[in-house]
Amino acid sequence: MDGRHDLLAGADDTLRVLDRCRALTRPALEKAVGRLHPWVGEMAAYSFGWCEVGGAPAAASGGKGVRQALAVLGAEAAGAPGRAGVAAAVAVELVHTFSLLHDDIMDGDADRRRRPAVWKAYGTGPAVLAGDALFALAVETLAAQPGGGGAVRTLSAALADLVRGQADDLLFAERPWTGPERVRPEEYRAMAEHKTGALLGCAAALGAVLGGAGPETAGALDRVGRHLGIAFQIVDDVLGIWGDPAVTGKPVHGDLRERKKTFPVLVALGSPAGDRIAALLESGDAPRAAALIEEAGGRSTAMAEARRHMTVVETALAGVPLAAAPADELRSLLGYLLRREV
Ligand code: IPE
Ligand code: MG
Ligand code: MG
Repeated sequence: MDGRHDLLAGADDTLRVLDRCRALTRPALEKAVGRLHPWVGEMAAYSFGWCEVGGAPAAASGGKGVRQALAVLGAEAAGAPGRAGVAAAVAVELVHTFSLLHDDIMDGDADRRRRPAVWKAYGTGPAVLAGDALFALAVETLAAQPGGGGAVRTLSAALADLVRGQADDLLFAERPWTGPERVRPEEYRAMAEHKTGALLGCAAALGAVLGGAGPETAGALDRVGRHLGIAFQIVDDVLGIWGDPAVTGKPVHGDLRERKKTFPVLVALGSPAGDRIAALLESGDAPRAAALIEEAGGRSTAMAEARRHMTVVETALAGVPLAAAPADELRSLLGYLLRREV
């Protein structure tokens, strides 16, 4: 069996895990969304890929569903049935979708998952409102759980981190490419951990806690999510520059044109070619900048950094007692996320 075959087999297994967790979560997610004002509920259903504008049923992509899978697998890894983690899965998917609705407005991105973003399809005000509604629904979902106060506190802490990371992400765009005010790789790592890792960690930890795990296991799973988040964000950056727009659904070199301080760029700016790269970025020559960033090692160093964080993830997983089968599914999911093309 050659390596390529192995990799594809692994991807199939992971897609099955994602599908299983999605199927387990969907009825509760639909029920929660069904409690919203009908117009707001339609915007939510549109973002999940369940309907078109106007409410006609659709089967569009609602995303990979990584967060709900982490919550379900967290509960299973703690020895409980997956359904124990469903409330956490619903809450983190709602928060994630809320963050995307508002993020597309902040980033000025007209498309999400190959369809008009909610603010383009329904208007900016309605999209802000729908995001607020999803946020409130997430809190309500967790508060309704027995002993939900602790779960709400965990979610609130993740949200505070998410806001911190999003704030830094927005501020980084205003900073220069070079000089004393430049963004350093360690600032990027903190931003990515907060913006992306906190909610991933919260998903796995909350699922585990609802499945009966103690603080040590919950802490380890939180660390897993945080380092996964940094690796995930770095892979996202690499795909944003060198990914196939036909596969990713994102515009080619969009991040470079938007002055996003992505990890491959920050690495390349620190190389001897840094000044030339900064000049190309400044002049808006994204294709030549992308080529020079790759030549300067930005792409390979970024992927090495993502793999380094995945090693931290593996160490954290190995340090706590987890049910073997779900822990393996978790590992296969993590590997898949590092190798993904979309
Ligand atoms: C996603 O951030 C939003 C949050 C996690 C708050 P990005 O802006 O980096 O992600 P995409 O590219 O729009 O999905
Ligand atoms: Mg965005
Ligand atoms: Mg953003």
